[in-house]
Amino acid sequence: MRIIKSIKEMKKLSLDNRSLGFVPTLGGLHDGHLHLVRASLKKCDKTVVSIFLNPTQFNDELDLMTYPANLDEDIKKLESLGVDFLFTPQKDDIYPDGYKFKVEELEDSKILEGEKRPGHFDGVLTIVMKLLNIVSPKIAFFGKKDFQQYTLIKKMSQDFFMDCEIVALDTIREESGLAMSSRNEKLDPRARENAAKFYQALKKKNSCEEIKQELKGYGFDVEYVEDWNGRRLGAINYEGVRLIDNVSI
Ligand code: PAF
Repeated sequence: MRIIKSIKEMKKLSLDNRSLGFVPTLGGLHDGHLHLVRASLKKCDKTVVSIFLNPTQFNDELDLMTYPANLDEDIKKLESLGVDFLFTPQKDDIYPDGYKFKVEELEDSKILEGEKRPGHFDGVLTIVMKLLNIVSPKIAFFGKKDFQQYTLIKKMSQDFFMDCEIVALDTIREESGLAMSSRNEKLDPRARENAAKFYQALKKKNSCEEIKQELKGYGFDVEYVEDWNGRRLGAINYEGVRLIDNVSI
């Protein structure tokens, strides 16, 4: 696997490879990410994975500081799958203007996750736009666990007439049903098992309000449970860890 740090080098490589698959990540890779990587390896001639802990999408400094990043482990995982290129740009190269220009969506990015995490989607859309411009992939892969994020990225790519196809794959879950997330690492084994009740409750045919009450009964601090674009989305805090999930309705 070739590791590329320079934007210039990455852009050159994109020109030479017309059928690139791309999986952007923050690092802290788990089976959910690896599922996206495998799909890209299967569908595209070459696969680029990026690892960039994007500071502009974290509205909470502590969340950024404690993000479970582990580059050496990530590299091993990607190498074992046969990934072609790993792109690890530096913050100052990605934001040479210090984040004076950004991509902002004015409606769907202001609700649910966007309401609870002000500025989060500006940071996400901006970094994804930058990465897609640098890598120029044919297809970019995202997880449905971040359904609102995926929806916004897809709309952005349509609205800006971008050439890249945006693909979303189903959420990969732990045996208990808990959606795979880098943040699961922060839960102790008992809490991690308990956290699966979040998904079990979301799946029920009850109203959002009933589900909220059920989740509160388990001791979760519920931020929202709402139906949106054919899916039921939720966010909770549990033992100091923020978890999101969604299911089809
Ligand atoms: O979903 C993520 O991991 C991030 O939001 C993304 C898409 C890599 C942008 O930093």
